[in-house]
Amino acid sequence: MYNSRISGLGFYVPENVVTNDDLSKVMDTNDEWIQERTGIKERRHVVKGTDTTTSMGVKAAQKAIERAGIDKDEIDFIVFATLSPDYYFPGPGVLVQRDLGLKRTIGALDVRNQCSGFVYGISVADQYIKSGMYKNVLVIGSELHSHGLDMTTRGRGVSVIFGDGAGAAVLTREEDTSKGILSTHLHSEGQHAEELSLIAPGMGKRWVNDIIADADPEDTSYYPYMNGQFVFKNAVVRFSEVIMEGLQKNNLGPQDIDMLIPHQANLRISQFIQKKFGLKDDQVFNNIMKYGNTTAASIPIALTEAWEAEKIKEGDLVVLAAFGSGFTWGSVIIRW
Ligand code: COA
Repeated sequence: MYNSRISGLGFYVPENVVTNDDLSKVMDTNDEWIQERTGIKERRHVVKGTDTTTSMGVKAAQKAIERAGIDKDEIDFIVFATLSPDYYFPGPGVLVQRDLGLKRTIGALDVRNQCSGFVYGISVADQYIKSGMYKNVLVIGSELHSHGLDMTTRGRGVSVIFGDGAGAAVLTREEDTSKGILSTHLHSEGQHAEELSLIAPGMGKRWVNDIIADADPEDTSYYPYMNGQFVFKNAVVRFSEVIMEGLQKNNLGPQDIDMLIPHQANLRISQFIQKKFGLKDDQVFNNIMKYGNTTAASIPIALTEAWEAEKIKEGDLVVLAAFGSGFTWGSVIIRW
């Protein structure tokens, strides 16, 4: 058995900055409400016709591959996590295989686990490397939320939170099993599936022809729905549980954490976790202020920024943790 380690990281966000004040011009909201409840000051929105979920993922991936010091054709497998794919099908994994210009017809897997997507993706990649099947696996989290949000007062509870962007990691075989990814921990609780969801178009309830036939201006089934307070209450419990589960599995405790990278769901959630585990400000990385909640992209963007700022050093214990729609949640324990 091998371990896997993160050998390269990269992220990409579109240039277009949308501040809370910008949003207040198109819906009844304000900077104070958004900052107080979420910590968000601004986010990035793709200008139509420029980037896509795939193109952002490719740009993040190119950076990660370059930093891993490998040729792109040394990538053995692609894992792509998103809830906002370019097409209904095929998923963006194969588009990355094409748009990176890979010579080999390597496998590409799409992960549909929303805010936990990157953690799920890392876990999948880690298993392939541990078993010896692959040596280098590319894991991407990318989201283009802004084109699909209800940018009116009706949608303000959700639309102010989400932003666009992508992050990527290359996982590489590590012979020293005391280093790299020590363990991953995944959970789901489908009974709350609809509490944070986008129902249509789907074969289950409403397909495109139903939406067109109804032509109902009050139809919100194709916008994301979130029961915010219920999500919040579950998030703080599950984040705490899954971080502890990962630490205990490795005979570690909260005092051993050097850097916690939580999914950037809401600054209040991160602060709750920080307090609960008695972590100092420099032991938890937050950048939701700048990018909002970028779902599957949030952890790789935050991890890359923390690494670029030299907040993560060799030998550090780095913990990734996520919670989101599904509900799904998970953690990754890394010895850097
Ligand atoms: N601007 C101004 N007012 C807004 C608003 C906005 N963007 N969005 C909602 N409001 C209003 C509501 O209409 C409501 O008004 P009312 O009292 O007159 O009915 C009031 O603010 C309170 O709304 P509520 O939804 O109860 O607010 P909240 O305190 O629960 O905060 C969230 C909303 C979404 C910020 C909060 O629930 C949250 O962060 N939840 C977790 C979300 C999360 O982490 N999601 C990602 C998981 S991966």
